[in-house]
Amino acid sequence: MGEALLTVRGITRRFGDRTILSGLDLDVACGEAVGVVGPNGSGKSTLLRCIVGADEADAGTSTLAGEPLDERVPGIRRDLAVVLDDIDFFPDLSVVEHLDLVARAHAQPDAEEVVNGVLDEVGLMEVSGQLPSTLSSGQRRRLALASAFVRPRRLLVLDEPEARLDVDGVAWLGDKLVAEKGAGRAVLLVSHDPALVARVCDRVVRLGADRDDA
Ligand SMILES: Nc1ncnc2c1ncn2[C@@H]1O[C@H](COP(=O)(O)OP(=O)(O)OP(=O)(O)O)[C@@H](O)[C@H]1O
Ligand SMILES: [Mg+2]
Repeated sequence: MGEALLTVRGITRRFGDRTILSGLDLDVACGEAVGVVGPNGSGKSTLLRCIVGADEADAGTSTLAGEPLDERVPGIRRDLAVVLDDIDFFPDLSVVEHLDLVARAHAQPDAEEVVNGVLDEVGLMEVSGQLPSTLSSGQRRRLALASAFVRPRRLLVLDEPEARLDVDGVAWLGDKLVAEKGAGRAVLLVSHDPALVARVCDRVVRLGADRDDA
């Protein structure tokens, strides 16, 4: 495998006197997918949030192609697509308007074509004129994933992307993530679905085995 695109070193996160993450290292190369697994509460979402800068680690660094990974930096934002478990949509934009805005805001060439392609792939074409509040929970989850897939990206960071998807949706997601690797992108995936992890991930980081609650 090539040089790491994402390099994570010594991530430590404490909440009060509980140490959730202790000096965690992680690399993800282009064309590679790394899975993060572990029981509820083992720190998977906290790790992703610290890596992408949505939470501040007590110690450690996270770099993308050598640059500190900070979503507020335009050059980094262009390379990074993140779907965490908290999904926010513009309440008064339809599905297609939302995706179109995301694509154009991130300078996606051929935004209209890309949006239509992704709408079709994620099965939201029929509801593309609806507001997010009128979607089913699985459709909202599909919209969150679609928001990542309409933007340019070199690294995809996903927290339980399989959540709320139906069987066909999870199968599509597996194919899509394998294709992301084939396109030379790096994938960091938190998942509770062992079959999805086995299908997509080249390596797995397991959290929670030696938890230090002291
Ligand atoms: N802001 C916070 N304040 C205090 N404790 C927190 C905070 N965020 C997370 N925690 C604690 O950190 C631990 C790890 O939480 P996290 O959400 O990272 O787990 P997870 O591995 O993603 O679990 P799940 O599989 O349920 O999604 C939990 O014990 C949680 O209560
Ligand atoms: Mg979580």
